[in-house]
Amino acid sequence: MKLRKSTTLAGFKSLKGNILQGRTGSKIKLREKKLGDVRNDYRWQSDAELAKLDAAPTLIMPFSIYLLDYATEIHRPKFNKYPLAVETLEGRHIGNCTCYDIDEKKYEAQLGIIIGDRDYWDKGYGADAVSTMVDHVFLTTSLHRLYLKTLESNLRAQKCFQKCGFTPCGDLNRNGNHFLLMELKREQWEKERNTS
Ligand SMILES: CC(C)(COP(=O)(O)OP(=O)(O)OC[C@H]1O[C@@H](n2cnc3c(N)ncnc32)[C@H](O)[C@@H]1OP(=O)(O)O)[C@@H](O)C(=O)NCCC(=O)NCCS
Repeated sequence: MKLRKSTTLAGFKSLKGNILQGRTGSKIKLREKKLGDVRNDYRWQSDAELAKLDAAPTLIMPFSIYLLDYATEIHRPKFNKYPLAVETLEGRHIGNCTCYDIDEKKYEAQLGIIIGDRDYWDKGYGADAVSTMVDHVFLTTSLHRLYLKTLESNLRAQKCFQKCGFTPCGDLNRNGNHFLLMELKREQWEKERNTS
């Protein structure tokens, strides 16, 4: 997915076809989204269990309509969103990791992750994807803070984010759901990077 020059925020730039490799030993790579991801993304968004874990509505739209919207976003990306696909080292698309609500005045963005393929849960793929995105953001953009919200009941997600250096910073009740807020500031990321 190419970011239009005029819509580049806080230094986020198109990868121009390049791949983001993780740290040594990482099991994943990140790449730009492409039209060929549409079937997996439709399947994952239509999956009631995945939607529930993310406190999102289950997608019920016909594939043909979804495809139209999807193609539009590939060609005209949203200005404050930076979505990357998560692939195994063998090139299997297993999920997505996205920065959104990018706010260059507050120097912050929200981070989202889904490993849609259940065969890859609890094996470190999620943490590798998040760490790779975090490193990319703090190395290449002007942002000072990444934050996220996750259901208080989603202990797997919380453990994954904690492994990547995120710490709790509050909570939030929205639409009957109770979320834990977590954040990672640039200074903390730098500190951990220098000691590892
Ligand atoms: C949340 C998600 C991104 C995490 O990715 P992942 O690859 O499964 O996570 P990781 O393997 O890196 O880390 C998960 C950790 O949680 C642990 N865990 C799993 N279930 C747990 C539970 N019920 N309680 C506590 N820890 C748990 C795992 O053992 C692992 O820890 P370890 O590495 O110390 O063994 C992924 O599972 C996913 O997308 N799930 C479905 C959608 C979802 O939950 N979305 C919400 C995102 S906010």
